[in-house]
Amino acid sequence: MHIFESTSELREQVSIWKMQGLKVGLVPTMGNLHAGHLSLVSLLQAQCDKVVVSIFVNPTQFGPGEDFDRYPRTFQTDQQQLSSINTDAIFVPSVEQMYPFGILQTVVSVPHRLTSLLEGERRPGHFDGVSTVVMKLFNMVQPDLAVFGQKDYQQLRVIQTMVDELAIPVSIVMAPISRTEKGLALSSRNQYLSAEQHAVAPKLNAALLDIAAALRSGNRDFKALTKVATQRLLLEGFDAVDYLQICDPQTLLDSTSNQSKFIILAVASLGRTRLLDNILLN
Ligand code: PAF
Repeated sequence: MHIFESTSELREQVSIWKMQGLKVGLVPTMGNLHAGHLSLVSLLQAQCDKVVVSIFVNPTQFGPGEDFDRYPRTFQTDQQQLSSINTDAIFVPSVEQMYPFGILQTVVSVPHRLTSLLEGERRPGHFDGVSTVVMKLFNMVQPDLAVFGQKDYQQLRVIQTMVDELAIPVSIVMAPISRTEKGLALSSRNQYLSAEQHAVAPKLNAALLDIAAALRSGNRDFKALTKVATQRLLLEGFDAVDYLQICDPQTLLDSTSNQSKFIILAVASLGRTRLLDNILLN
């Protein structure tokens, strides 16, 4: 497995692969890898010849007071896990490599209609940080495909929109959410949870599954469905429900009753830890 810190060496390797007619996939990550990340690598391995995993804790997507400083940096174990599943290369740029002209000079900004609601409303500037770093990673790695998890669904829509509107020659693959046996969506942030909070956390998915079942059986009273689920989560031990909404999967605006495709999006907090989850219904 190659480990690249410099963009020029990585590019040289990628161009050799491409000259050999090989298809290159990218899995962008912030490290602290778990089974969910590894499933993204496996998904791309089935569609590409070579898979590059980038590890970069991107300072520009963390707001003031968020967990940038305490975000776990676990390069040794990340490297072992990636090597054990035959990843071809890891790209680990430094902050100076990624932002040689300083933080957020030229910014890629996806339209507000998609970035100012839900996570964007609660984390101003977050998606500018994400779209800018992902654009940079695409330019640095030059992959044919890149994979993003459905768990961060709004992020996926933001990147898909950037790719479509800027005609970036990268195909975006959506990976299904990996979960624990009890249904908790895997996330690096789950390790912040205490044992007690761990016991409560899967109830978020259970609440979303109940809404999904109601929608499937024809219930279109979105307000009542989300209100009841929110109250239930608070009773079951969540400290706050940031949002729980039934939305249009394309626009992320609130659903209207004559739609047939839905995404149920939720963020609920246990202490300082925000847990994201969603269910897509087509
Ligand atoms: O989802 C993440 O881990 C990050 O937002 C990403 C896409 C790697 C950009 O820093």
